[in-house]
Amino acid sequence: MFKYDVVDSTNEIAKNICANQHKRFVVTANIQTTGKGQYGRKWLSPSGENFLATFCVPQIEITSDSLISFAVANAVCIILKECGFTSQCKWPNDIEINSSKIAGILTEKINDWLLIGIGLNLNWPKKRSELVNGKRYTSLYAESGEKFNVNKFVSLLSKELNSQINKSTAEILKLYKSFWNKKRNIEILVDDVWIPARQTGIDSEGALIVESVHGNIIKINTSARVRTNAV
Ligand code: BTN
Repeated sequence: MFKYDVVDSTNEIAKNICANQHKRFVVTANIQTTGKGQYGRKWLSPSGENFLATFCVPQIEITSDSLISFAVANAVCIILKECGFTSQCKWPNDIEINSSKIAGILTEKINDWLLIGIGLNLNWPKKRSELVNGKRYTSLYAESGEKFNVNKFVSLLSKELNSQINKSTAEILKLYKSFWNKKRNIEILVDDVWIPARQTGIDSEGALIVESVHGNIIKINTSARVRTNAV
């Protein structure tokens, strides 16, 4: 394990380290100065309050490449369940508690490695009523009033990730659907315009099937953007 106090981003540090590694490893940090989110967004996290880690796996060890981020989301939901929290997945891989984001996942491929960046809000005294960039966030502390140990989550997640990423595509998908919040109101980006849509299913490749307000059935792949209305 590579443990840092301050880094720009654990995913960026992992990219430098993996050239000299052969086996799985983890990079953790207390503080990220430029934490990366999906779609080029920033991942904000106050000093030392949250879980920030990148799990690095040789790509050759991954059985179900296309649904890997679902397998990661499953692992996070399982760990949260073990800790007494009911979480749900907002397609494709936001983890929410009561429709507020608790964790984000950023997977990146670099050479022969898969980097799995996970940010999980642990002890951030966030109020669910606050909006950050139009989204609601929460933390385990905000949900329970209890403080959580960051190191505990490194070992819990390492173990659960190892188990989940080795499952078959069918198993990953089945489990993911049990965590997926199908009823969540979403909006999809069509020709640069956000339009409300109803989620109807997820196909065998992980694409989201939605019905737009105009009654059109649209398939959205995992690189497309979907947003939720703040509730
Ligand atoms: C998202 O936008 O939902 C994904 C957020 C991923 C954040 C984590 S924190 C650890 C790792 N390092 C980063 O810079 N990003 C990921």
